[in-house]
Amino acid sequence: MSKRTGWLMLAVAAVVLAAAPAAAKDAQGRFVIGMSQCNLNEPWRIQMNQDVKTAAEKHKGELVVVYKDAQADSLKQRAHVEEFVISKVDLIIISPFEAVPLTEPVAKAYQAGIPVIVLDRRVMGDQYTQFIGADNKKIGKYAGEWISKTLGGKGKVVELKGMMTSTPAQDRNSGFREGIKGTALEVLFDVDYSWMEENARREMESALARFPKIDLVYAHNDPGAHGAYLAAKAAGREKEMKFVGIDALPHEGVAYVRQGILAASFQYPTGGDLAIEQALKLLKGGTLPKEITLGSRVFTAENVATGGKELN
Ligand code: FRU
Repeated sequence: MSKRTGWLMLAVAAVVLAAAPAAAKDAQGRFVIGMSQCNLNEPWRIQMNQDVKTAAEKHKGELVVVYKDAQADSLKQRAHVEEFVISKVDLIIISPFEAVPLTEPVAKAYQAGIPVIVLDRRVMGDQYTQFIGADNKKIGKYAGEWISKTLGGKGKVVELKGMMTSTPAQDRNSGFREGIKGTALEVLFDVDYSWMEENARREMESALARFPKIDLVYAHNDPGAHGAYLAAKAAGREKEMKFVGIDALPHEGVAYVRQGILAASFQYPTGGDLAIEQALKLLKGGTLPKEITLGSRVFTAENVATGGKELN
């Protein structure tokens, strides 16, 4: 084969690959769904995969889920999406690590004819089939208003920001700032802790060393709020301040509220179960709305025994 013919064949193969529609079903006639999780080293993400698994079990004759864990690495997650396209899964569910780096692989999968459901963290643009997630801006704003009310409209606050290259952190930050606008609350210190408890603990150690008085810590997730609590406790200052987080998993944030460690936790549902229901609906010929917004609840000492209060 001449060099030229070789190149030509390669080009043709590339075009065929790019245009290939999703191949239907595995050997047992089931739909194959690729689930790309950005990191399985956090309780909330383990819960999301569990929710996907429980929902998939209910339809085990109709679909099978292939799981990949990108271990908090956008490049690895990009490769996982590309592998799903090459292996021609019927549909992809992705919870992206960061918005910008995952936008292109998601768009390419979508343009190759593979439906993509984006869960919890967004990508940029509109080149995906459906987005499912709670309204982080609303949660942040509500948290800001709740904090302002609880502190009587004034006080010194530390904001621990989840990874600011991911959309929930951006929205939980901007919503919170909107919620405290016009009050006498002062954000003394704000820093990115990449969603990880041990980073939050370390950052809180520096905040404690710098500021003799802190009234409240608002962290973008419960592991962050708990890390801050541990740092304050180690410094003997945990009673001086309140801690507020987001996620409200029953065995994590809600339990912390019950134990008096957190003053409040805002629920952030995983949407894993709904993603499977929506996937199946689409694969059976239905159509999906472009976006589904999940609700949220707030859990505090007053309402934790009665199941929290819905955000309205
Ligand atoms: C887990 C997590 C959750 C948080 C969500 C935001 O990775 O940090 O705690 O609510 O991601 O995307």
